[in-house]
Amino acid sequence: MVKTEFTEAVSYLSSTVSRSPLLPWRRYQFPIDWTAQFAAAVAAALHLEIGFGDGRYTARRALEHSNEFFVGLEISSASLQRGLRRIKKEGLNNVRLLKVGANFAVQHLFAPRSLSSITVNFPDPWPKARHEKNRLLRRDFFKLAASRLQTNGVILLATDHPDYLEFSKAEARATNLYTLRQAEPPAAVFETKYALKWRSQGKPLYYQVFEYLGTQTPVYPILKRDEIMPHAILLGSLPGQIQFEKQVIPYASGHVILHELARSLGGDGLASERWLIRATIDEEDLRQQVLVLVQRRGSYELIVRIESFGDPIITKVMRGAVHAVTEWLLTLPADIRLKERAY
Ligand SMILES: C[S@@+](CC[C@H](N)C(=O)[O-])C[C@H]1O[C@@H](n2cnc3c(N)ncnc32)[C@H](O)[C@@H]1O
Repeated sequence: MVKTEFTEAVSYLSSTVSRSPLLPWRRYQFPIDWTAQFAAAVAAALHLEIGFGDGRYTARRALEHSNEFFVGLEISSASLQRGLRRIKKEGLNNVRLLKVGANFAVQHLFAPRSLSSITVNFPDPWPKARHEKNRLLRRDFFKLAASRLQTNGVILLATDHPDYLEFSKAEARATNLYTLRQAEPPAAVFETKYALKWRSQGKPLYYQVFEYLGTQTPVYPILKRDEIMPHAILLGSLPGQIQFEKQVIPYASGHVILHELARSLGGDGLASERWLIRATIDEEDLRQQVLVLVQRRGSYELIVRIESFGDPIITKVMRGAVHAVTEWLLTLPADIRLKERAY
């Protein structure tokens, strides 16, 4: 990648640690340096909880083990807010909550052999056969999780759903990576919001431990992030009349979709006009919506770059969005020429 004098876009990754329990994980290099995030001098046992709901179990556990680190994942914004309120109210500084799905997070945010445990309390059961593919504790996940667990690290499952229990046991056994045992759960496990609901309905509750044997797992590469915001510089000015059509462009190992273009006028009208192109960047396990910006720079230059809005994760495929817009600009019936590509 070419380095230019364009400094605004360079080095967008943060080197400071988050002061809030809500971790803006998109801003950090992967895998996350958890010891630094917890502002700790030395590493401590690192525990992950997937789908923490209202966070009451997370908080209880973190209070009981104040010298260990707890990371909670949620995909629901409402749960995230509830969990965050609870962690803040308890004044816990050994918990970080992230809004991100489990598969992506386990693979890219945690180094191999870094986790002591992964807790999954009352996962969505997806009871219909055709929805089984949505269950979290499938064999692919067991393999991925093993690659991030320490030897003898555990996956701890609580469920009210006998089918899910049997399904997850069969999936774990199929990997040959775990020993399975039933154990007495910590009291708080059956006092989460969902456990209390099921208990009040008289449903039986199950607790299952999957212990990683330490045998070889497949290798799951961690997403490599570019340090530099991709951009291109063109010579020319934005034409007044344009036609824009949706485009789908294969790039690197994924796809870029350019959906629509919006023109934004600044204070001095056309002179500060910006074009914002809404794009989807589609790659394995990661789908991002971004804005590609085309803007005047100096008197006769245009810059094409990714807007930093939304904390995009800059990957190889993301560079394809700058490429696609640059190539499209060069096809316009205007005197636009390429000065440099930095992507
Ligand atoms: C049935 S609730 C259980 C919540 C909590 N563990 C409890 O026991 O009260 C399942 C939770 O998992 C979350 N969830 C589902 N799929 C997830 C995923 N792939 N990554 C992270 N959280 C997920 C849901 O948003 C929901 O809050």
